Amino acid sequence: MRKPLIVGNWKMNLTISEGVNLVNSVIDAGIDQLKVDYGFAPSFVALGEIKKYLNDSHILAAQNIYFEDSGAFTGEVSADMVISAGANCVILGHSERRHIFKESDEIINKKVRQAVDKGLNVILCVGELLEEREAGCEVETVLRQVALGLKGLNSDDMKKVVIAYEPVWAIGTGKTASKDDAETMHREIRSFVSKLYGENIANDLRILYGGSVKPENIKELMSAENVDGALVGGASLKAESFVKILKFYE
Ligand code: G3P
Repeated sequence: MRKPLIVGNWKMNLTISEGVNLVNSVIDAGIDQLKVDYGFAPSFVALGEIKKYLNDSHILAAQNIYFEDSGAFTGEVSADMVISAGANCVILGHSERRHIFKESDEIINKKVRQAVDKGLNVILCVGELLEEREAGCEVETVLRQVALGLKGLNSDDMKKVVIAYEPVWAIGTGKTASKDDAETMHREIRSFVSKLYGENIANDLRILYGGSVKPENIKELMSAENVDGALVGGASLKAESFVKILKFYE
């Protein structure tokens, strides 16, 4: 049985003090970590401070890394740097990295490789554009992103990978994918991973849904057989709404 996982992706929001206040409010709410794995993806500058308030079971995710170990890459942040700040995970391939910052599948794969090699857990984000869904090629698009993102990873590497399906048309729009839409795509992803790595790896893989997850829709989404958790944006920026999402099990 896959343990649910819910991570708040703060994106470019919350100062360090705002983040600390939110984390403390969430922890004070008494989330049952036996029932759900959860954590936060703050900005790079907040990682080290936020780490001070977490226990070893919490996920602390960087929102990106560069794929080189070190060097003349002004503005970039390495895997070793986020690890030194306390991160145990990194979000890669987020649609904003793909569509705003033009990261290719090849670049994303290099980052996945670097993250796994450095011992970080990876949340690999995939998802189609509205026009790709309207054209009926959403599955083809997502499976291509999965295949190219995971290229070169072996079965042992896959133990450090979580996939997040985030339909781009649902991110920040309030238009959440239906339970059926999410279940259909998650089932396609799991079946595809089974063909690549075998049934055991596929069954163990946690596949998160992201895209306008709210307290109002988390229970229904989590009732889908192949939805193993959520990557939450806007609703993770307020302790009250994030706690309601984390307590979906109540
Ligand atoms: O990574 C999660 C994010 O893309 C979803 O954003 O605001 O639609 O929950 P939001």
